[in-house]
Amino acid sequence: MWPAASVGAAINTLRSTMSSDTTWLPLGTPRPRGEVQRYLEHPWRHAKELKLPVPDGHDQVMSLFAGRRSARCFDAPTLGSLSALLWSTCACQESAETSLGFAIERRGAPSAGAIHPVHVLLCDPAESRVSRYNGKRHALQLLDVAWPHDLIESCRSVVPSDTAWIVLFVAEFGKTAAKYEDAFSLILRDAGVLQGVMAVAAEALDMSFCLLGLTGDPWVSSLSEEGKLRGVGAALLGSRA
Ligand SMILES: Cc1cc2nc3c(=O)[nH]c(=O)nc-3n(C[C@H](O)[C@H](O)[C@H](O)COP(=O)(O)O)c2cc1C
Repeated sequence: MWPAASVGAAINTLRSTMSSDTTWLPLGTPRPRGEVQRYLEHPWRHAKELKLPVPDGHDQVMSLFAGRRSARCFDAPTLGSLSALLWSTCACQESAETSLGFAIERRGAPSAGAIHPVHVLLCDPAESRVSRYNGKRHALQLLDVAWPHDLIESCRSVVPSDTAWIVLFVAEFGKTAAKYEDAFSLILRDAGVLQGVMAVAAEALDMSFCLLGLTGDPWVSSLSEEGKLRGVGAALLGSRA
């Protein structure tokens, strides 16, 4: 936990840099404790139980979910598999102009208000380059940024791989805050939805995918001088090794 004073200071700093009225709480650096804390689960009480029929295990959806596992061995992803993963989860299927200053979109993943505030950045270790997926153009657009060496090493210290691509989930939180008050939780939920959908799509496409606990910050935040971007997750992605 963060001391109340530092959270307050951080919120004030962020408020002063944002055009919309929202609050971004520091996400810290999630990592395993040195020593775990024992926890007592909530004791749910129920009056009755309704047993459900066991579904047909041969159903395609059932077997997809039954087989989905985080994978930690990677070959470099092929362009074809990357294309399929990004197309199915993040490509723009339909868009509509709004008075928000940007278009809302339909994509494979749901998003509060169809705003899709979470960008997908891809770090290719073979070329040491970082791209952003543009879902309107179905294209990887090379960013003019230095290779985030420290961030990549942090990812590799959690799950070692020289070949996996690193996926960074980057929230442009002002977009959701332009429409919603108290948007903070919506943005984190959007990030979680996208990460879950991507995990399932990777399984369906026979790719290796493993979410990581780190957020991508402070490197991600440094990409916008106006403080418009925050790291909301990372993953390793590749072909099955
Ligand atoms: C938010 C989130 C963060 C995670 N962070 C890590 C991580 O840092 N390292 C790791 O090896 N796995 C990580 N995982 C993967 C989980 O360990 C994994 O989902 C869990 O062990 C269940 O295994 P399964 O995905 O194969 O069913 C993360 C998963 C989620 C949803």
